[in-house]
Amino acid sequence: MTFEDDLQDSVRTIPDYPKPGVMFRDITTLLGDARAFRRAVDQLVHPWAGSKIDKVAGIEARGFILGGAVAHQVSAGFVPIRKKGKLPHQTVRMAYALEYGTDEMEMHVDAIARGERVILVDDLIATGGTAEGAVKLLRQIGADVVAACFIIDLPDLGGAAKLRAMDVPVRTLMAFE
Ligand code: PRP
Ligand code: ADE
Repeated sequence: MTFEDDLQDSVRTIPDYPKPGVMFRDITTLLGDARAFRRAVDQLVHPWAGSKIDKVAGIEARGFILGGAVAHQVSAGFVPIRKKGKLPHQTVRMAYALEYGTDEMEMHVDAIARGERVILVDDLIATGGTAEGAVKLLRQIGADVVAACFIIDLPDLGGAAKLRAMDVPVRTLMAFE
């Protein structure tokens, strides 16, 4: 059994959630398995071991769980990127594409200084609309987006390719068709 198969086995698939036809890739089983959680975090940041990373930006909500662990691992600060209206201080805001329509995400305006090296973290990339919005938001305030890391890639939906076309190195640990 390969490493990837092993870790992939810890992700649970729920058919027809949240609606018919969707195969929901549930990472709560991976997070609840101490060995799998540690391996996922270690593997996500492996290429940047020894690099200077100033901040890890995590996307609400599942990106917060991983992003905090990743930030600790690379000795960086953690910055939440939240759905609009949740952050108390002055924010910068970016619209992003959902399956149907758009929404807006926010970050505190002073969370990242111009030129700081940032890794973006989320659990999964599908169409890439969420991550694309996050990269635009980070670049808007002058962050140097070093990489975007996800446990799961759904390559058929094209999100990772979209980010690479924006010159963002993308790291994923497994793919589901
Ligand atoms: C999920 C996932 C990513 C996003 C990926 O979050 O955690 O953030 O979808 O989809 P995309 O690549 O097509 O943009 P969701 O919007 O369901 O929010 P949640 O984490 O709060 O459940
Ligand atoms: N976000 C977008 N598509 C998803 C899927 N298939 N499973 C879990 N989260 C998702």
